Amino acid sequence: MKLANKHILVAVSGGIAAYKSAEFVRALQRAGAQVRVVMTESATRFITPLTFQALSGYPVHTSDDASFDKAGVDHIALSRWSDAIIIAPATANIIAKISNGVADSFVSSLCLAHQSSLAIAPAMNQAMWNNSATQQNITTLKERGVKVFGPAQGIQACGETGEGRMLEPDDLVHHCIALFANHSLSAKKVVITAGPTVEPIDPVRFISNRSSGKMGYAIAGAALEAGAHVTVISGPTHLQENERINYVHVETAQQMYAAAKEHCIDADLFIAAAAVADYEPTNIADQKIKKKDDTLSIQLSRTPDTLKEIKLSHPSLFCIGFAAETENLIQHASEKLRQKSLNMIIANQVGLSNQGFNSDFNAVEIISSDSTISLPRARKSELARLIIKNIADQLKKEASQTNVTYLQSK
Ligand SMILES: Cc1cc2nc3c(=O)[nH]c(=O)nc-3n(C[C@H](O)[C@H](O)[C@H](O)COP(=O)(O)O)c2cc1C
Repeated sequence: MKLANKHILVAVSGGIAAYKSAEFVRALQRAGAQVRVVMTESATRFITPLTFQALSGYPVHTSDDASFDKAGVDHIALSRWSDAIIIAPATANIIAKISNGVADSFVSSLCLAHQSSLAIAPAMNQAMWNNSATQQNITTLKERGVKVFGPAQGIQACGETGEGRMLEPDDLVHHCIALFANHSLSAKKVVITAGPTVEPIDPVRFISNRSSGKMGYAIAGAALEAGAHVTVISGPTHLQENERINYVHVETAQQMYAAAKEHCIDADLFIAAAAVADYEPTNIADQKIKKKDDTLSIQLSRTPDTLKEIKLSHPSLFCIGFAAETENLIQHASEKLRQKSLNMIIANQVGLSNQGFNSDFNAVEIISSDSTISLPRARKSELARLIIKNIADQLKKEASQTNVTYLQSK
């Protein structure tokens, strides 16, 4: 199930190959993907929305506004839902529209709003494909990172022979699998902490924080995609779990520390993305604290510094910290990198309304001893892939430096 847990949005445009998209939806589902379908208005003249609704199990959105209102979703929500949007078939017309940023229909608006991977499977007459207007549009889209699957050569519906046939459904699925495939952490054991910790005050009250765990869970998903064996030590969250990830559920900072110690023994990478409480109540009341005086003092004690302790006890373990700061982001994060002897720190500004805690979006700075890389605001799943790519690159770089030092000392 190479596309297990992947959300794929198939956008069907008005070409004769639209009938093959029904088989493409089935093939994606066989590979484990959850599929939803949207159609251009002209696509509905080639194949009915009902076919795709029956195959996908979801309402099909077309450029008919009434159907969006009824479904209660819009192009932004669907774009957020998807890990990838695949336009298959992609007509010369929709290719021209998206390369020019036109947003005059549901499908074209969706493509303009997309935050995930966008791919097109062109299908058209060979003269339309070879026309310099189409070729220029394709070049523009490739430059923007849009993936182009095909087209294939062969006999066309119009009787001509040449380039322009849509790839066969199974070939398209292989391209979709390749969109997510990445072996940069192949067979590495990765331990990730995620979410908040919860420090009890008495049997009913606790101290916690606003972490949702979304960033840590997204990084775990990206590490899995990169071929790693992933363990997530998670504070309480409401997030969907991935059946291929090993989850260890904890509540307090002490429990998180104990679990990290246990699981990092044979790990290659430790990513501390959890928002761990720095202090815990010194004494936890056995009974609910009663309302009495005007003020109440609760004495707090330092919790173990999981990341620092793990790095101290496993100096060769590649350790990555997260720094959530409300001010002087780079300065505070760089201090943390040095103080804890980390290999890398991911710094993000919190306290902004449209990113960070609880949001699906974030923007981060990846800081290591010799570089700072800025990743601008993006969906956390997309950002997680870039973070994992940077971690894998740095891991490789440090491993080759260690080899050089070793050889020089011989
Ligand atoms: C029978 C027929 C077959 C067509 N096949 C294709 C095709 O394979 N590829 C293509 O780019 N356009 C094809 N077209 C033209 C498109 O349907 C037309 O450009 C339409 O405006 C596309 O709209 P859309 O991109 O919004 O789906 C075909 C038109 C007709 C009438």
